[in-house]
Amino acid sequence: MNVLVVKANNRPASQAVSSKMYETFIQNLEGVNVTTYDVFDEDMPYFGQELFNAFGKMQAKEELTDVEQRIVEAKQKAMDALQSADVVGFAFPLWNLTIPAKLQTFIDYVYAAGFTFKYNENGFKLY
Ligand SMILES: Cc1cc2nc3c(=O)[nH]c(=O)nc-3n(C[C@H](O)[C@H](O)[C@H](O)COP(=O)(O)O)c2cc1C
Repeated sequence: MNVLVVKANNRPASQAVSSKMYETFIQNLEGVNVTTYDVFDEDMPYFGQELFNAFGKMQAKEELTDVEQRIVEAKQKAMDALQSADVVGFAFPLWNLTIPAKLQTFIDYVYAAGFTFKYNENGFKLY
């Protein structure tokens, strides 16, 4: 079994509960393959116009700018990590009533029609 842990707190385990929970979880897993996707270690440009520009340019076989290239690669890396996993865990704090921005970027990268959900007659359905 392949377990992916998406870690979204760059505070040390000595100070942050969710980082400590992450470490305890990793240390106590047995008999599975564990991969960590640490959003604070990854180069993750924000989801936005650059990505849509990149899609258009790739279709037209035009050269991408640096940020367009980076976001395309980062998005693919996040999707590959998710696709390889049988089980996914998230280690994150709540900051100001929401999740860390880099975790939101991970979700933006992987939440895509035909990948994590599909449309049907009732709206949409998760895979
Ligand atoms: C700047 C900041 C903002 C926070 N905002 C919230 C919040 O909106 N809601 C909440 O339940 N906890 C909030 N917390 C508490 C953390 O979620 C809590 O400490 C939890 O242990 C996870 O954070 P940690 O893993 O960094 O310790 C906040 C903590 C900090 C440092």
